[in-house]
Amino acid sequence: MSKARVLVTGAAGYIGSHTIVELVKAGYNVVGIDNFSNSKPSVLDGIAAILSERIPFVEGDCCDTATMEKLFRDYDDIAATIHFAAHKAVGESVREPVKYFRNNISSLLNVVQMSVAKGTSIVFSSSCTVYGEPDPENLPISETAPRKSAESPYGRTKQFCEDILEDSVKAYPNLKVTLLRYFNPIGAHPSALIGEMPGGVPENLVPYITQTAAGIRSELKIFGKDYPTPDGTCIRDYIYVCDLARAHVAAVDRMLKDKDAPRIDVFNLGTGRGLSVKELVDAFISVNKVALPFSYTDRRNGDIVQVWADPTKAEKILGWKADTPLDQILKSAWEWEKKVRNIQ
Ligand code: NAD
Ligand code: UD1
Repeated sequence: MSKARVLVTGAAGYIGSHTIVELVKAGYNVVGIDNFSNSKPSVLDGIAAILSERIPFVEGDCCDTATMEKLFRDYDDIAATIHFAAHKAVGESVREPVKYFRNNISSLLNVVQMSVAKGTSIVFSSSCTVYGEPDPENLPISETAPRKSAESPYGRTKQFCEDILEDSVKAYPNLKVTLLRYFNPIGAHPSALIGEMPGGVPENLVPYITQTAAGIRSELKIFGKDYPTPDGTCIRDYIYVCDLARAHVAAVDRMLKDKDAPRIDVFNLGTGRGLSVKELVDAFISVNKVALPFSYTDRRNGDIVQVWADPTKAEKILGWKADTPLDQILKSAWEWEKKVRNIQ
């Protein structure tokens, strides 16, 4: 029997590239699409070096219906789409909401339209941001916790996209969907051939840490030290990107192979372990034995105090667990930064 093909949108992005590697390792054929709005073509070289083969790839915009129609015509064996392609910078989404609504929603609508026409399944990249600031009694947070009003246009696109998919499953009997709500993805492939590559000044913690350790930034500013947490800094659930990538394979497997699976399901993807900013910084320094200048500054607008996942459902139903030790994850992040910066 020929292998099923998975379309990966946002293929050259951070999570998409790592997921392609895991899909191919798991025996899937893939085809990728990306418009390189937040990535570089060289990522495809990294994937090829890891897999010893180049993946089929289309440079194009998922918002362009003709491009998507052609892609589905050219690859008529697509069985599922993992839809990563989206803009994701929270601050930018506040300044340019229309850009976010246009890209993140139009691209999803095309994926839904093609999936319905071809009878194929969808995995959607959602985010723990849909939960907003959880009530402390809801921690760790499970999939049944209420979604809260979004803190940013970016977060709202995730909620809208989830709703669009829910309505579509009700309307189109052949559509199957899995919503994956990621917590905080970090780290890089152990080969250091692919990893996170933010453009400009990083907004996220781990790229800021690695760039500071590499001397690109003079010091890390920790946003807030008076939060109601044990050490006063915010708490998050940091999940290794390769563990996260494997969860996508498990989600596709289930949709394609388990005839009894519900037509739409949602999973939290985290470790179940909350870590403070200060704990993460200390762990990075101790594991990598590097200097990391840091100081405390004001809280960042819109930051939530603490959130971490209850990943029990994913473990029970997808048979998936994020089990890579933190040391290994933080080493991978530093190895990647060193590779990118040519540091020995
Ligand atoms: P990324 O920016 O590295 O990857 C997204 C890729 O999609 C980029 O390569 C970009 O060029 C591409 N893209 C964007 N719009 C496109 C379009 N219209 N057509 C074709 N390609 C397009 O981001 P990532 O970190 O890999 O995130 C992937 C998905 O996961 C996104 O939907 C993001 O919102 C979601 N997510 C990410 C995080 C995170 O912290 N990284 C957390 C929760 C959810
Ligand atoms: C960000 C996104 C959120 C997304 C999540 C998962 C924002 C406001 N939110 O959240 O929508 O779902 O990623 O990827 O960007 N920190 C510092 N100094 C820094 C950078 C970060 O102290 O220079 C702190 C932050 O205050 C936070 C923690 O580190 O407490 C993690 O920050 P970040 O990596 O930006 O992720 P989130 O804020 O969780």
